[in-house]
Amino acid sequence: MCGIVGYIGKQNAYPILIKGLHRLEYRGYDSSGVALLNGQNKLNVYKAKGRVSDLEESCATKDTLGTVGIAHTRWATHGEPNNVNAHPHYSQSENLALIHNGIIENYAVLKAGLINEGYTFQSETDTEVLIQLIEYVKVSNNVDLYTAVQLALKQVIGAYAIAIIENANPDLIIAARKSSPLAVGIGKDEFFLASDASPIIEYTNKVVYLEDEEIAIIQRDEPLKIVNLNNHEKTPQITKLEMNLSALEKGGYEHFMLKEIFEQPRTLRDCMRGRINVENNNVTLSGIIDHKAKFQNARRILILACGTSWHAGLIGEYLFEEFCRIPVEVEYSSEFRYRHPVIFPDDIVIAISQSGETADTLAAIELAKEAGAFVYGICNVVGSSIPRNTHSGSYTHVGPEIGVASTKAFTAQVTVLTMMALNIAKERGAISQTRYEQTLSELSNVPAKIKEILELNPLIEDLSKTFTYAHNFIYLGRGYSYPIALEGALKLKEISYIHAEGYPAAEMKHGPIALIDQEMPVVVIATHDSTYEKTISNIQEIKARKGRILAIVNKDDDKVRAMADFIIEIPETEECLAPLLSVIPLQLLSYHIAVKKGRDVDMPRNLAKSVTVE
Ligand code: F6R
Repeated sequence: MCGIVGYIGKQNAYPILIKGLHRLEYRGYDSSGVALLNGQNKLNVYKAKGRVSDLEESCATKDTLGTVGIAHTRWATHGEPNNVNAHPHYSQSENLALIHNGIIENYAVLKAGLINEGYTFQSETDTEVLIQLIEYVKVSNNVDLYTAVQLALKQVIGAYAIAIIENANPDLIIAARKSSPLAVGIGKDEFFLASDASPIIEYTNKVVYLEDEEIAIIQRDEPLKIVNLNNHEKTPQITKLEMNLSALEKGGYEHFMLKEIFEQPRTLRDCMRGRINVENNNVTLSGIIDHKAKFQNARRILILACGTSWHAGLIGEYLFEEFCRIPVEVEYSSEFRYRHPVIFPDDIVIAISQSGETADTLAAIELAKEAGAFVYGICNVVGSSIPRNTHSGSYTHVGPEIGVASTKAFTAQVTVLTMMALNIAKERGAISQTRYEQTLSELSNVPAKIKEILELNPLIEDLSKTFTYAHNFIYLGRGYSYPIALEGALKLKEISYIHAEGYPAAEMKHGPIALIDQEMPVVVIATHDSTYEKTISNIQEIKARKGRILAIVNKDDDKVRAMADFIIEIPETEECLAPLLSVIPLQLLSYHIAVKKGRDVDMPRNLAKSVTVE
């Protein structure tokens, strides 16, 4: 969702900004733009609907000189994606230009006031209101840009990450954030600004993450200055980035999504590294060690997340209830935050988020904290907002996930939840030593088993051809496989735009069975588990109605093979670990169907990687 890039230094800003925008493309956007100060009292703003490459094309004949500039990818909220609504936005006098991520909730009231003062608006955006407000405050109070931003932001309700440049001052960028991420990269005689570290990493590994209501005063040849809305100055806290550049490249794969699917044997090893000690058959998570008593005395676990992370949460529910015997509720963050939930001070809240920036999950965390609950974050992006706003947590350590459809982050979330459940179960004395050791040792075998499944890629690609005709799909699973049915359906929807529904297999006969005919592909997860025989009965029900069955089975499965039209065989594992294996062929199936349909797999329409608005 919207991306910000900024540069001030000795180099020409334009190529750095464009490269930065390309790095942020994965977040999802529909238009882009750039503002440059060319050093001759000219603030140039260029914008284009569509891809960053469209912006580059339209800038080919333009003046793109200047050593200071800001650039933006926009994911439309207020007003359709077009050149006018794209950022940057000029102020009325064209002395200022602003880019913005987030939503100004009181923009209508502010706009009405500005119209009364004689301001006119070109776009439908809330962003243009903000830059006009800043100019109005600057002119009417006769103050400098920093003070104007500070005063204007005090009037704003909503979320923002902003960057502003001023024609009259080519040595300055002002940036600020609230509930939307922003990082300043510190180079030698130069500064970079970005929504996340990906545009910064090739120039410097030193970054400062802004906190809510902080303003960065980024001046040429001056140290970075950070001040909050109440004018308190703060020493910038420099974080060293561990990410490497190759993690942001496709590494020979056609798409990031395919690369990330194939990375999973390694990423899961990385996720377990230092946590599972195979020799001692032990698992420790540093985020739990420091808060052992909380976990031992937990009355209930509440898991909050959105989308794919919510599916990981559902698996967490099964794991915690089975192993720890703690009651668990899993909620969409967006529902939780608005429904007056009952939260006890001895609840443990687990917030799951790949990006660590999902606005609804952040708001749900605040609600839980206000009610006195202990909040544990499971996140992938190091230094993102959720880990910084939770009491403790675990990183998934899978490296940047660029493909919009989450794959490797999901399996790592499930792995962290499994390690947590085993760790807490042991601390609470709720699991036998034998079971604990067995499951742990089998968890260590999962990466190798995933590698085996990945060898089926050519077969799954071949199979995908059979299904490109379909307009609808049903995915079924029971027990631990039910969340995987949901996840398989979501993956297919997101990237192929084929409608798909995930259902608990037994629920079929309560309604969805009416949809089954010879046209309807039904993907059934029918691995050997405690509900295997029941799932077979469900397959028979579909078969009787001529549905086309693609079954995910374990090797040497005869019963399902005899009924299914197509099968994909995966290795056996413990029931609670089966989701980590059965999801892999479903990721590959969605990927290949989407490719065959000519979809933009890494950047599917309308989707954003980091959903920073509610
Ligand atoms: C699906 C997907 C989304 C995210 C959801 C939450 O492939 O990626 O459903 O899972 O937007 O995002 P995070 O995990 O960043 O909070």
